Amino acid sequence: MTQPRPNPPELLLLYCRAGFEKECAAEIQNRARALHIEGFCKTSDKSGYVLFSPYDTAQVSTLGEELRFADLIFPRQWVFALPLISQLPVTDRITPLLSAARSLGGPFSDILLETADTNEAKELSVFVRKFSTPFGAAAQAAGLAGGRQSAPRLHIFFLDSSNAYVGLSHPGNASPWPMGIPRLKFPRSAPSRSTLKLEEAFLTFLGPNHKALQPGMRAVDLGAAPGGWTWQLVRRSIRVTAIDNGPMDPALLESGIVEHLRVDGFRYLPPKPVDWLVCDMVEQPARIAALAARWLAGRHCRYAIFNLKLPMKKRYDEVRACLERIAESLDAAEVPFRLRARQLYHDREEITVYAERLGSR
Ligand SMILES: C[S@@+](CC[C@H](N)C(=O)[O-])C[C@H]1O[C@@H](n2cnc3c(N)ncnc32)[C@H](O)[C@@H]1O
Repeated sequence: MTQPRPNPPELLLLYCRAGFEKECAAEIQNRARALHIEGFCKTSDKSGYVLFSPYDTAQVSTLGEELRFADLIFPRQWVFALPLISQLPVTDRITPLLSAARSLGGPFSDILLETADTNEAKELSVFVRKFSTPFGAAAQAAGLAGGRQSAPRLHIFFLDSSNAYVGLSHPGNASPWPMGIPRLKFPRSAPSRSTLKLEEAFLTFLGPNHKALQPGMRAVDLGAAPGGWTWQLVRRSIRVTAIDNGPMDPALLESGIVEHLRVDGFRYLPPKPVDWLVCDMVEQPARIAALAARWLAGRHCRYAIFNLKLPMKKRYDEVRACLERIAESLDAAEVPFRLRARQLYHDREEITVYAERLGSR
């Protein structure tokens, strides 16, 4: 018997923070255009996802080959998908979904049933959870589950209980987390919820047990109070100079490895270079970008993680301008660097940037 020919994905489905669909669309169109791939985006405000369709649908796979997911800022996940499967019969949703999945190949390394991350989709997630057991069993019986770890993952993205996109992501070039969301537990002894932002940034940009986070390293935390970010550094036995006029959590000061200075974060520079600069000051993004560039170009730190709070309008343009300004400053100072940016799950109207000075000098 001949195998059915695989059906190539035609769309790129991007999950994003609700309210950032336009930025996500502008980014993917911009990145696709740089590869000479033209297409159009379908977005709807606060939906939490974007669809990009190249005019030549065969070019969807080129995007997956030429772009690194880690280099994208606004998408939380990307899925190479078939056209919408609509009007799933209430009595048997499994058969059409399985048939679409089969046409994409398989067996898959994982099967993820997902929704957008919106308030409206919260109710839908109850249905999706219930549906995942019979669907998982049917996929197993059809030989679509249990693929090698490196095999594509199958995503079924429900818009509601009768409409869904079926598509693939490739481990190693996609978010590893369901819905692109790392579920982090708030550590009870941390003094603020902001702590999760830095934890997610470390996970996203460095992965676990990275050489950039070693006991005995030195860090400066600009805008540190009450100390959620400092807490993440102290937890890793990194010595911190915490800069803020506001009060720091006394338990952090008692750790013996935190020095609190009530000075202006825009003026402070360490007497000797440090390993890390982290900065969560609420300020205009251009000012923060200039500050980070000054620290890196002046070799005051090797690694930096900082937030850029986004304006109400032209947010993608602002992000690009800030990142370009940092890159230009470092090029001018002949400092080789790596720069990445992402809107993390724990970020709100902001993105997080990671910068690393490369080379030995
Ligand atoms: C969002 S909060 C930081 C929260 C902190 N990262 C945490 O995890 O607990 C911003 C902080 O920046 C401080 N800040 C704003 N402008 C500053 C400046 N020019 N110099 C020093 N600190 C500043 C504020 O006092 C405020 O405590």
